[in-house]
Amino acid sequence: MITDDDIKRVRDANDIVELIGERVVLKQRGREFWGNCPFHNEKTPSFKVDPASQFYHCFGCGEGGDVFKYVMKTEGLNFLDAVRSLAQRKSIELKDEQGGGAGSGGKRARLIAVCDETNAFYHQQLMRVKSSETDAARQYLGKRGLGGSVARDWKLGFAPGRGMLVRHLQEKGFTDEELVQANVAFSADNGQLRDRFYNRIMFPIYDLQGRTIAFGGRVIGSGEPKYLNSSDTRLFHKRENMFAIDKAKAPITTAGAALVVEGYTDVIAMHQGGFTNTVATLGTALTPEHLKLLSRFTKKVVLLFDGDEAGMRAADRATDLINIAAASDGWSKLDLFVAVLPNKLDPAEYIEAEGKESMQSTLDSAVSLIRFALDRRLAKWDLDQVEQRNRALNDAVTLLAPLKGTLLASDYVNYLADLFGKNYEEVAMMLERAKPQPVQRAVSSASTSQDTNGAATQATSRPVKQSKAKAMEIELLLLFIEHPEVRERVASAFKRIKWSSAEHESIAKMLLGFNSGDVSSDMLAKLTAQNPDISSILSGARLASYDGVPPNRLAGKLMFDIREDQLKTEISDATIQLRRVRSENVGKTAQTSDQAADKIDDLFRRISELQQELAELRRKYNSDNLFS
Ligand code: UTP
Ligand code: MN
Repeated sequence: MITDDDIKRVRDANDIVELIGERVVLKQRGREFWGNCPFHNEKTPSFKVDPASQFYHCFGCGEGGDVFKYVMKTEGLNFLDAVRSLAQRKSIELKDEQGGGAGSGGKRARLIAVCDETNAFYHQQLMRVKSSETDAARQYLGKRGLGGSVARDWKLGFAPGRGMLVRHLQEKGFTDEELVQANVAFSADNGQLRDRFYNRIMFPIYDLQGRTIAFGGRVIGSGEPKYLNSSDTRLFHKRENMFAIDKAKAPITTAGAALVVEGYTDVIAMHQGGFTNTVATLGTALTPEHLKLLSRFTKKVVLLFDGDEAGMRAADRATDLINIAAASDGWSKLDLFVAVLPNKLDPAEYIEAEGKESMQSTLDSAVSLIRFALDRRLAKWDLDQVEQRNRALNDAVTLLAPLKGTLLASDYVNYLADLFGKNYEEVAMMLERAKPQPVQRAVSSASTSQDTNGAATQATSRPVKQSKAKAMEIELLLLFIEHPEVRERVASAFKRIKWSSAEHESIAKMLLGFNSGDVSSDMLAKLTAQNPDISSILSGARLASYDGVPPNRLAGKLMFDIREDQLKTEISDATIQLRRVRSENVGKTAQTSDQAADKIDDLFRRISELQQELAELRRKYNSDNLFS
């Protein structure tokens, strides 16, 4: 396999402007280069390449990333092959590839041995060790029906932490590097090795052959994060691996279908209930890679969603799979179905409350993903109103656009024609004219779901608008990657920033973990290694208004601008609310207006506090001692 070091050498050797310039005409404007996007059709350039951050981003279709992502996209390669291709481009020899397969196979086997040994250790802790912590773990599992034989069947474990695993593995002869690479330990600031998981219930994750490759750890009771999963390693890729695939693969073949649920405990409950053809994704939404894996065992996949809001959001995201399925081949022959559990229950609760037979009938009533998505779309419109009916039909047809020309599409044209009292030809004609929505990138990243809502109802591709607040934050994150010395100086103010999204916050946290001596390309490599989506996130910004501001001034200015923008937004939100409460209460009874008066008082107080904070912020910034 390829070492991190080699990946870094390849990244450093390939300049993104030069690489993209080979096929896109780029013109320099300010700090950046612009051209027509290679990923979608356009006449005016909205595709930006940034030599400083080495990222590209399209403001039209939302594509973005680094050199590797670019090659993956344009040449249809996976990450490692993209690295190989770029290595070849610059005649770089990759260290571990010279010796051929034997050495790398040995390495993989060692990491699997680390995970297998870790699994045995955790399991032993849960089953045999007496302590107040293990008692609590056993009690918790017992209460949830996951004790005794269930714990044995699934080889559940307990992670004690306190370096106990690290010591155990060292005694077994594993090296520190192997522990880190298997992601069961990490090295702390002082260089000491620590257990990655502590005081958690452990769910081992196996590959198809039943070898341990990763873990999910649940807090006992409540706490954050509820589940901590292994990061991607040489053995484990969350976009590809599925929980319980080792146990479920044979039953999937026999049953002729795979059931996909949302979490670890859901899978166990389903297997307990006799639905042994069940698997789950691990801390991510379903990806095309997961479907490809399942397609090796079956042609039918039923996605089973919880009836709660999170479940419905997940279900809506799955709609993107229609586009992707239509765009690829082979596994796209997969039939996707959706079933939703009633009453906001999850599978465990549902089986417990209603029994296995009800679960079976829920599964039997699953509808095709397309039908499900169409009905969700249609539910947004009031079909009793003529004007809304027309728009609803348009909306529905747009959803089918990626399937144009397939047999499947004609089934749904029939369905829509019936529903709207039109004839088949009329709807077929609409479909002929409909443009597919751009394939969205949100399938893989659960947390960016809000960003896609707007685009989803739009038939033509509309520029993806990025809020100014987000752009300023990205600008600041990039500044801190490119100028670690600045970050060091304003670290305490940096820690207090309220980030607009969890993604930005987690990138900020990672940045605080780096040393001031770290080189920016190293940091970028580490960041993107932890989460490949980071390159897409960071590729977005660069506001012209900050061109030419020296880095040491820019930090303060950005932090000021970000906070000022937040305060202004909060003030205007509260003001709008105030106006609404007032107008709603014109002419109300004495009692309701009493309550309203309190509310109005509160809002007044809040607005004036915010205004004071804003005035204070501006005063400090103008006297030039803020954040420096
Ligand atoms: P849920 O929050 O529905 O958890 O997340 P659950 O499986 O029902 O767990 P219990 O029953 O409360 O113990 C569903 C899945 O999302 C991932 C896990 O894979 C989880 O099983 N997840 C959730 C995480 O990766 N991290 C989290 O913090 C939460
Ligand atoms: Mn759940």
